[in-house]
Amino acid sequence: MNKFKRTLITTALPYANGPVHIGHLAGVYVPADIYARYLRLKGEDVLMIGGSDEHGVPITIKAKKEGVTPQDIVDRYHNIIKDSFDGLGISFDVYGRTTSVTHRKTASDFFRRLYEKGEFIEKTSMQLYDEEAGQFLADRYVTGTCPHCGNEHAYGDQCEACGTSLAATDLINPKSAITGNVPVLRETSHYYLPLDKWQSRLEKWILEEHKEWKPNVYGQCKSWLDLGLQPRAVSRDLDWGIPVPVEGAEGKVLYVWFDAPIGYISNTIDLVGDDYTKWWKDPETRMIHFIGKDNIVFHCIVFPSMLMADGSYNLPDNVPANEFLNLEDNKISTSRNWAVWLHEYLEDFPGKQDVLRYVLTANAPETKDNNFTWRDFQARNNSELVAILGNFVNRAMVLDHKYFEGKVPACGELQPIDEQVIAEVREAVKACSESLDSFKFREALKDAMNVARAGNKYLADCEPWKLWKTDQARVATILNVALQICANLAVVFEPFTPFMSKDLAGMLGLGKLSWDMAGKFDLLKEGDAIAEPHLLFEKIEDAPIEAQIQKLKDTLEKNELENWKPAEVKPNVDFENFEKVDIRVGKVLECTKVKKSKKLLQFLIDDGLGKRTILSGIAQSYEDPSVLVGKEICFVANFEPRKMMGIESQGMILSAVNPDGKLTVISPSADVAPGASVG
Ligand code: 2FM
Ligand code: ZN
Repeated sequence: MNKFKRTLITTALPYANGPVHIGHLAGVYVPADIYARYLRLKGEDVLMIGGSDEHGVPITIKAKKEGVTPQDIVDRYHNIIKDSFDGLGISFDVYGRTTSVTHRKTASDFFRRLYEKGEFIEKTSMQLYDEEAGQFLADRYVTGTCPHCGNEHAYGDQCEACGTSLAATDLINPKSAITGNVPVLRETSHYYLPLDKWQSRLEKWILEEHKEWKPNVYGQCKSWLDLGLQPRAVSRDLDWGIPVPVEGAEGKVLYVWFDAPIGYISNTIDLVGDDYTKWWKDPETRMIHFIGKDNIVFHCIVFPSMLMADGSYNLPDNVPANEFLNLEDNKISTSRNWAVWLHEYLEDFPGKQDVLRYVLTANAPETKDNNFTWRDFQARNNSELVAILGNFVNRAMVLDHKYFEGKVPACGELQPIDEQVIAEVREAVKACSESLDSFKFREALKDAMNVARAGNKYLADCEPWKLWKTDQARVATILNVALQICANLAVVFEPFTPFMSKDLAGMLGLGKLSWDMAGKFDLLKEGDAIAEPHLLFEKIEDAPIEAQIQKLKDTLEKNELENWKPAEVKPNVDFENFEKVDIRVGKVLECTKVKKSKKLLQFLIDDGLGKRTILSGIAQSYEDPSVLVGKEICFVANFEPRKMMGIESQGMILSAVNPDGKLTVISPSADVAPGASVG
């Protein structure tokens, strides 16, 4: 039995500097929502806390880039994020923000309490400073080479290539993200939380008392603890954040990772007022943090140290952090726009919230990084949701309407095949419960799907349509069992696909759902009316999938263009060698596409001495080659002749390649006589 009276579920507060994407959803919000819905169905007392993380350097960098204030940025994205979560049915009990008045007060009070208890160390140190911007460079304000893996684009707080957490002063060749200048070192003082003070308590609490945590979480904590914890700065010299609430700290704000987790507390206060102590301090409450793997150290080491330093709060009971989700084999990236954005998905696939929820759960990166592809999304919809779940429910309900006018038929004596399917459903429900209890959501979804699989097989094996003429009572029993399975599906799928579940429960007239209904076969009573069925899921055709793939290809091309750099200059050649290449000006007399070739254009050139034919692979850049006729162009006159598509090419046309791959011929800027040398 559960020794806890209630469960507080927290979900990582996303930075309000961009919309949320499928990586956030698969890592944090979908599993948290499944868990919260499951507990609510079980009748447990549960709160699910969410909100936007509205401080931190990335927000100020974005604001600077756009020429707006950080507040403008967070207002914009907080609303986009909140609405999109709503749209996907993520059932937060509260979705707050860290720029709220409550949060500012809660975080300031928290800091002051620790300060007054003497829980901080004040230290002066040399920090990177941008003289032109007149500002210290913390965290993402500085980039440079990672001392661990050599990645040249590491940030001052973390290297995204190897995942190492860094201090700005660790970077090799640091560069200011504001001006691009090389920063200087300047002295400043900060407040540090001595994590080393909590080392042995953390070791006991995690390594001994929480061996049940997921191996990826436990392992990361162990390597941090094995390295030995160090004091960690919890203030920054910035003008965006919560001011450090003590005298003499003017111009300093709380480090974003100090104030953000306190956001869970402030948002609880916004929801339940003074009752928040019941959720945060009563030992009979358990707290579960849903986060992504990059947040593990903050939720398992830093925040718990803050809570221990305060002394009146519970520590989390579990932190079921997920790994990362990739998109079409590449790392999801907000800055490179390599993502499926939730708000765009909801627009592009209206009414298909459950499909995304389903696919992200079926593919959840629970034990290792995983991959989302649009083809897999389509396949899972068409061959699982439509072909198994939707098909079974539709068949059962259509048959019921055909034979029993949409009334639940009487259940007669059960035969072994009925008892077997009932046992299978009960087993799947039990397995589903156990998987959910241990945060194995992929497995739980498979178990739920097994209920539908069992139903499908049952109908296929029983073939009630063949029995109608001879044994109507038997058909009634089979359809009664099949409809009870449909009712079970409405219950077990509620945490995963709540929109479908509501729809199905509505068609079956089920009323309020609860988890203890799962596994029961008297959920529908004889004579109950079943609504005219409609399809729960529809097939997704190729066109919308191809449109999404094209959108990603366009992004890739755009990124390549933006990141384009001229090629390195080749090794020097001396004049003697240069002179060997005979470059001349010629006049284009004719220019046509070479038949059966996509790439080749055939030029007829007046080279001053006569005419020559030259082939050039630039056809894709000139839709209408006749535009080149009459132009003077540069060509290599002594290029070894060679045959292509049966035509001899006597030279080479010079052309330049644009970053987008488009080729353009090189012409003199004023009239030049054909045959003139270029050099
Ligand atoms: O990694 C992130 O996106 C952070 N904004 C998560 C913060 S979680 C919590 F502490 F608020
Ligand atoms: Zn690195």
